[in-house]
Amino acid sequence: MSTEEAPAQQQQQVKKPDEPPPAAAEGPQESAGGGGGSPAAEEKTLSNRALVLTGYGGYDKIKLQEKPLKSPQLQPGEVLVRVKACGLNFAELLGKQGLYELLPSPPVVLGMEGSGVVEAVGEDVKDRKVGDRVIAMNRSGMWQEWVVVPAQRTFPMPEEMSFEEAAALPINYMTAYMMLFEMANLRPGKSVLIHMAAGGVGVAATQLCQTVKDVTVFGTASASKHEVISQGGVTHPIDYRTKDYVTEIRKVSPKGVDIVLDPLGGSDTQKGFNLLKPLGILIVFGKSSNCVTGQKKNLFAMAKTWYNQLSLNTMKLMQTNKAISGFHLGYISDEELFGRTLTSLLELYRQGKIKPRIDSCYHFEEVGLSYGGLLLLLVGFGFFYLFYNHNFINMTITWMKRNASLT
Ligand SMILES: NC(=O)c1ccc[n+]([C@@H]2O[C@H](COP(=O)([O-])OP(=O)(O)OC[C@H]3O[C@@H](n4cnc5c(N)ncnc54)[C@H](OP(=O)(O)O)[C@@H]3O)[C@@H](O)[C@H]2O)c1
Repeated sequence: MSTEEAPAQQQQQVKKPDEPPPAAAEGPQESAGGGGGSPAAEEKTLSNRALVLTGYGGYDKIKLQEKPLKSPQLQPGEVLVRVKACGLNFAELLGKQGLYELLPSPPVVLGMEGSGVVEAVGEDVKDRKVGDRVIAMNRSGMWQEWVVVPAQRTFPMPEEMSFEEAAALPINYMTAYMMLFEMANLRPGKSVLIHMAAGGVGVAATQLCQTVKDVTVFGTASASKHEVISQGGVTHPIDYRTKDYVTEIRKVSPKGVDIVLDPLGGSDTQKGFNLLKPLGILIVFGKSSNCVTGQKKNLFAMAKTWYNQLSLNTMKLMQTNKAISGFHLGYISDEELFGRTLTSLLELYRQGKIKPRIDSCYHFEEVGLSYGGLLLLLVGFGFFYLFYNHNFINMTITWMKRNASLT
């Protein structure tokens, strides 16, 4: 099916997340030209639809626009990818509110992860070729039909992996993997507190904890999601909405936990620090859940989070025998670390030890449709899906409410 086909036709081909992955992609129907892979490089304009953040604010700021792409002359080391699927992350929601410092100012095409087929390669690119199915990452710009990315930010997909899974994997799993294994050095018998255990990073972290023997996972989430997160590997689900998670954890483990993954910030960082056992480590990797309370920027919530943030000196760290670290995938520029991490994750995928949990897929053309009174990002298809591996507070679709109506 081509991108030119009507949304109605495309919709019939929406693949539900639980369906088996599609067969390997057909080869490119026509080379897009531009790089070393297309010597003649006739000047040709590619039709290119993109989801553009046109300004900061609510979902109405995200518009589907036609951004024709003049057949790009690839720089050495670059590849042109025809995007088949792309993922939505918390960072895009932050970016929409002007709270993600790594996103260029609007107008900007959103999207940090996706999957697709290589359509052209630049000079010097030896390990990617036209027709390769790849995971692709970029700081922004993945929510469009064609992207030019450095070849080293593309990773060949396992044959059995669907485009949806490939688009849902990088950010959540790399974040969880680096925190657990590079920073916290997770080992058998340890205990981990995973906040937002029902979210994208939470699910990834839980699955990765299962790859190590005898790890106890405490996971906070709404009660309605406990059954599923328990099946996914959370040993002790805690409803943070109705219970004090500190009290609940102390009931099971009076000494506390070895590792806290903290995406909350504010007063929760202090609670997490107090919960650590001696020699334990707390990793701060977000503040958004306490800061982002709706579609638009909430200055009061931001001020409250800032006011309540943990403040201590190194003497206190020494006297308590605890460690605090920070993690931000967006600031990692070590390509070797990136490649090594994704390679490890793809191997775990092949072994059946991890599997992205996808909430819903949407037609690209349907971004911005109203649903249940809230404006949703209903995205991606034809050659686009947008995947909610994500479950934001004010969204009506959560990963527990799978395959919500596409109409
Ligand atoms: N530093 C980095 O490199 C990096 C990378 C990726 C993500 N992050 C951060 O990681 C966090 C999670 O991102 P995500 O993409 O996994 O989010 P997500 O998929 O949107 O998940 C959000 C989940 O959190 C739950 N939740 C909301 N507030 C909560 C709270 N106070 N306590 C426990 N659960 C809560 C929500 O459902 P229920 O409330 O119904 O349970 C939902 O399941 C965000 O803060 C994001 O900024 C950081």
